[in-house]
Amino acid sequence: MSLTIDRDRLLSEIDELASFSDAEAPAVTRIVFTPTDLKARAWMKARCEEAGLTVRQDAVGNIFARWNGSDPAVPVVGTGSHIDAIPNAGKFDGVVGVLGGLEAIRSLRQNGFRPKHSIELIIFTSEEPTRFGIGCLGSRLLSGTLSPDAAKQLTDNDGATLDEVRRESGFAGELEEVKLPSGYYKAFIELHIEQGPLLERQQTPLGIVTKIAAPASLRIVIEGSGGHAGGVLMVDRHDALCAAAELILAIESAARTSGAIDTVATVGICEVFPGAVNSIPNRVRLSVDVRDTDIQRRDIVLRTIETSSDSISAKRQVSIDNELLNADAPADCAPAVVEALSQSCRKYELNFLPMISRAYHDSLFIARIAPVAMLFIPCRNGYSHRPDEYAAPEDIARGTLVLAETLAALSR
Ligand code: GLV
Ligand code: MN
Ligand code: MN
Repeated sequence: MSLTIDRDRLLSEIDELASFSDAEAPAVTRIVFTPTDLKARAWMKARCEEAGLTVRQDAVGNIFARWNGSDPAVPVVGTGSHIDAIPNAGKFDGVVGVLGGLEAIRSLRQNGFRPKHSIELIIFTSEEPTRFGIGCLGSRLLSGTLSPDAAKQLTDNDGATLDEVRRESGFAGELEEVKLPSGYYKAFIELHIEQGPLLERQQTPLGIVTKIAAPASLRIVIEGSGGHAGGVLMVDRHDALCAAAELILAIESAARTSGAIDTVATVGICEVFPGAVNSIPNRVRLSVDVRDTDIQRRDIVLRTIETSSDSISAKRQVSIDNELLNADAPADCAPAVVEALSQSCRKYELNFLPMISRAYHDSLFIARIAPVAMLFIPCRNGYSHRPDEYAAPEDIARGTLVLAETLAALSR
């Protein structure tokens, strides 16, 4: 079989999907269940139907587009990723895996390939944590990692529950129905940009992921006491933002001093109330993201955040409330799927690097219920989650080709 990828079609679809955005180009903002996200989903479903796939969606909005195999009784070979985008993001994160997955399927169909196992593209709901605080909502529910009851209690910043929002967005049915039956997948592969600089630095066109790091996130609320920026003397202050500043540096230091480069911690959101130049901050809300390939080391950082919070709280006479939103285990990729990807690379004489994914992905959760591997392509300077995120056309096409070849190998 000699496969060809329609690179121009794929690139123009990536551009078109980027036009569904709440930010000015080149930035992309597409938050789950906003009108923009719903329009992008409708556009994606139309592309899948146009390709001859059978489309369905579940109660949380995961979209499945299936190419039926000759034996409906055997498990599915899955691929896919997400199309939601954090505020001020780029156009490749997630999208390469979705539109590349669709192009891989189209290429196999045009080549006359007939799968025995159905091949199914999935577009996961809310890989990004922007709206409901935790990422990978769709894959957590599909894999049973998040219980439907816990999911129902998630709220957005306006206090709307996930259950309300998804129903208003047209996703009917019960969250209890989302979990996939055991043995659903024979294998699952996610194509994604690396979101780091290693492939580019090593001038290697492809990465095959063997392990996905363990993410955790916290919401921290610090309450001090506010007042007049002129009237309240420094000795009398319990400034919530000053306490937050100390805590943020303690979090940075906990990651920096872990003894491993794989430990990372980020405070990505700092909301200050009441937010006036002449008013002492009385409340601060922080969002914290901590990750490591080693779960014990990651958890040491979480404990350090707790102890630092206690000591800063005592010293500054402010209250600090830490809510752990998620603390997930890392995932190992399945040797058989890693090997299938490696064989496809060898077939096309393409070098690849075995690597760890420091970013999380829906594959982290699908790995709890299926043999999973990921295929990475380089992105310029390792940039991601920013508007100048860029993946070269030849890298996108190459990744799509290796994906197509591997989907064929696994679905025979
Ligand atoms: C996914 O977007 C991540 O933050 O790793
Ligand atoms: Mn992302
Ligand atoms: Mn992603």
